[in-house]
Amino acid sequence: MAIQWSGLGPELLLRLDRESDRPLRSQLETGLRDAIRDGRLPAGERLPSSRELARELGVSRGLVQECYGQLLSEGYLDSRVGSATRVAPRAYPAAQAQPPRPARAAPSPRLVADFRSGVPDLASFPRGDWVWATREACREVATADLDYGDPRGSGALREVVAGYLRRVRAAAADQRDIIICTGFAQGLNLVLRVLNQLGVERVAFEDPGYGDIEASTSVRSAGLASAQAVHVPVDDLGVDVAALEASGARAVVVTPAHQSPTGVVLAAQRRHALVEWASRHDAFIVEDDYDSEFRYDREPVGVLQGIAPDRVFTLGTVSKSLAPTVRLGWVIAPPALAGAVAEAKTVSDRGSSGLDQLALAALLTSGRYDRHLRRMRATYARRRTVLIEALGRHAPGVRLTGLAAGFHAVAHLPGSAEEEAVVAEARRRSVGLYGMRPFRASRGDAPPQLVLGFGLVNERAIEAGIAAVADLLR
Ligand SMILES: Cc1ncc(COP(=O)(O)O)c(C=O)c1O
Repeated sequence: MAIQWSGLGPELLLRLDRESDRPLRSQLETGLRDAIRDGRLPAGERLPSSRELARELGVSRGLVQECYGQLLSEGYLDSRVGSATRVAPRAYPAAQAQPPRPARAAPSPRLVADFRSGVPDLASFPRGDWVWATREACREVATADLDYGDPRGSGALREVVAGYLRRVRAAAADQRDIIICTGFAQGLNLVLRVLNQLGVERVAFEDPGYGDIEASTSVRSAGLASAQAVHVPVDDLGVDVAALEASGARAVVVTPAHQSPTGVVLAAQRRHALVEWASRHDAFIVEDDYDSEFRYDREPVGVLQGIAPDRVFTLGTVSKSLAPTVRLGWVIAPPALAGAVAEAKTVSDRGSSGLDQLALAALLTSGRYDRHLRRMRATYARRRTVLIEALGRHAPGVRLTGLAAGFHAVAHLPGSAEEEAVVAEARRRSVGLYGMRPFRASRGDAPPQLVLGFGLVNERAIEAGIAAVADLLR
């Protein structure tokens, strides 16, 4: 319900939405506070009595009194015995003296098709399931579990995740060695901190992968002041283990299930070579189990952690399976190092949101998570087919690789093409294309390639987008 409150001075529109989950009191309080802050209710303005306002709004007088009381205590309102409640003189100077807000980033022009990679189909986020799961979590949570908990995360979620990863990823997962964290980004930071404590000085990253700057930043932000990020090439079989051996690194961050961004699946011989390298050098593998949820040609291979649990940290996230905004992921640590990762998590933030963890546990145990993945696998498989066909029709010379899993592929442009020029011209035509160059650490001669994501483009947009830039790709 919206009322036009016009009984005094300037008119004020106050909206109370009775269908909303937000309590009426909070809606009224926010409405008044905002009106004072932005000057619609100027300093000195008289407010209606609580009785009048309650009648106009059709709420209890007590609710209005509570609301006025709160705004009085916050300094927005002023009240003297025997006189009306008014907006405080120079109401809320802090609000008026606020520094100018940073200009909002200009909205990006609407694209016919945005082939950005790394982001799932946000429109398919299972909102209904998440609402159901958060309600379940709120209803079921024990009062004691609203306290700071085990920094490793909710026991219920760790148990469920361990079972899930044993079943789906052939992980040697025990809930005691799982630390729930805020997605892969935090998981990597925690693991790098622990490696720092172990004296690891050189950490290798795949190239292409994070690029030079991002890899160095992640190493430095984990406190590895004297440490160095080095890069090892990825070829058609995955990370080059001979180059890793030569690099002198004692840890490597890899994406075996679907290399980011080339899309190569780590070959069986490389998997074994990598594990042997780690044992020989007392080294560690940080396995980013990237895109393992979506595999099209056959069942995904299990995690490396399953064959070398003492040498591998496996990191997972729901950023691709649900949405990045959920900010939940996990680390399976080698048993001897799980305590150190938990310690790093404590120092970092004392644990991730317990309620969100319980919601995720409810999604997993109810089967809703699996159902969502099945639906998304079918969606991405259709998009993948449309992409292959659209390129085949409009730009048959362009080879696509990395299609075994996930929701991105690599398009190999003719040698004469200029990657950056193609990207810029496509943008002028309102198509978001993305080159491989930002993912490369080595800036030497590299063949022109595009990383084509199909998380954010539906089938129609794929067809329209490829048609619009076909002449650039040929
Ligand atoms: C290689 C790689 N792994 C994992 C992730 C997921 O990170 P997070 O879980 O922090 O969202 C990303 C995000 O884009 C990524 O590029």
